[in-house]
Amino acid sequence: MFASVKSLFVCGALALATAAQNINIALPTAMTTVNPGDNITVQVEKGDSLTGSTEVGIAIALKSCSGYTGGCDVIDISEVLGTPMLISQWAPTYHSDQWYPYSNFTVTIPSTFQSGQAILSATHLSLVGAGPYPYTETVNQTITVA
Ligand SMILES: *[C@@H]1O[C@H](CO)[C@@H](O)[C@H](O)[C@H]1NC(C)=O
Ligand SMILES: *[C@@H]1O[C@H](CO)[C@@H](O)[C@H](O)[C@H]1NC(C)=O
Ligand SMILES: *[C@@H]1O[C@H](CO)[C@@H](O)[C@H](O)[C@H]1NC(C)=O
Repeated sequence: MFASVKSLFVCGALALATAAQNINIALPTAMTTVNPGDNITVQVEKGDSLTGSTEVGIAIALKSCSGYTGGCDVIDISEVLGTPMLISQWAPTYHSDQWYPYSNFTVTIPSTFQSGQAILSATHLSLVGAGPYPYTETVNQTITVA
């Protein structure tokens, strides 16, 4: 009995810790239009964490949806990132204009990039908790390339 209650608690705590590592692409907003060759700001937020976690690195990539009959909806971005535009270490920090800590990155849309809808993604690796254990996650935002 005690054992099962304890393991439930541990599972719950782990789930909470994992959820707390989630990142989010705050900018660009969905359906923003960009031009090939543009330098754009990608703002990546990190949710508050209860257990300590350390960010190891981040990759920002762009995948064109052109040529897919079902468009962006049929692409599993976690399996095919497209063109990496930035690979970096990062350390999101608190700023006065947002609730969550974030980092701004400047990325260049490739000058020959196919026009149409595209999926901008951010993939990060972090080390979570006292172990620590490795955690990776990919989030995405659909934009339009003019
Ligand atoms: C983007 O940034 C690069 C490097 O700073 C610069 O050479 C280029 O002119 C910029 N492009 C635009 C469209 O501003
Ligand atoms: C892309 O983002 C949307 C909206 O946040 C989400 O529903 C979808 O699961 C994401 N796709 C992948 C492959 O992560
Ligand atoms: C991050 O970029 C956004 C959009 O350009 C800007 O409003 C914000 O002030 C920037 N934050 C920092 C800390 O530079």
